[in-house]
Amino acid sequence: MGVLVVFGSKRGGTAGLADMIGDALTETGCDAFVCPADGVADFVRVDAVIVVGALYANRWHRDARRFVRRNAEALRGLPVWLVSSGPLDDSAERQDIPPTKQVLKLVDAVGARGHVTFGGRLAPDAKGFPASAMAKTKAGDWRNQAHVQRWVETVVNQLQSLKPGRAQS
Ligand SMILES: Cc1cc2nc3c(=O)[nH]c(=O)nc-3n(C[C@H](O)[C@H](O)[C@H](O)COP(=O)(O)O)c2cc1C
Repeated sequence: MGVLVVFGSKRGGTAGLADMIGDALTETGCDAFVCPADGVADFVRVDAVIVVGALYANRWHRDARRFVRRNAEALRGLPVWLVSSGPLDDSAERQDIPPTKQVLKLVDAVGARGHVTFGGRLAPDAKGFPASAMAKTKAGDWRNQAHVQRWVETVVNQLQSLKPGRAQS
């Protein structure tokens, strides 16, 4: 099963999260293709799509937004999940954090099967304002492999149940 994982990332944390998702998919036996959201050429051999976007001031990274809008028609015909990244604390591990208003519109636009928020990362030496100021108190890496793995397993279970030939309940 081919799963395309596309990401919009400003400072690399969300790109790394997309890699974690790709690795977890590979471990379950899927073929994972991890790719920047502005670099997707086609959907050949793609059975499902996961779009991962960094959150800045409650807005999803532009590349992730554009990818969803530009490919909305194709995405409506595939199982899709949207992923937001992410809070600079352990809140995403403690509770389900719903999509922001903007991301919810994208969920609806493509009929995504689900959305999840994972913790983010901010380097202590982050450049540019206000990131550099935020880094003084909020720097840290809150991406959690175990959390990612658990979520990927739920996605793969849903994909297995969509396979043709399986009895529908
Ligand atoms: C200026 C700034 C604004 C941010 N705003 C949000 C936000 O609204 N919601 C959130 O969950 N995380 C927010 N974050 C945390 C980022 O989403 C997190 O650092 C993420 O991992 C960044 O991804 P990137 O390294 O791929 O750019 C913000 C971070 C910065 C520096």
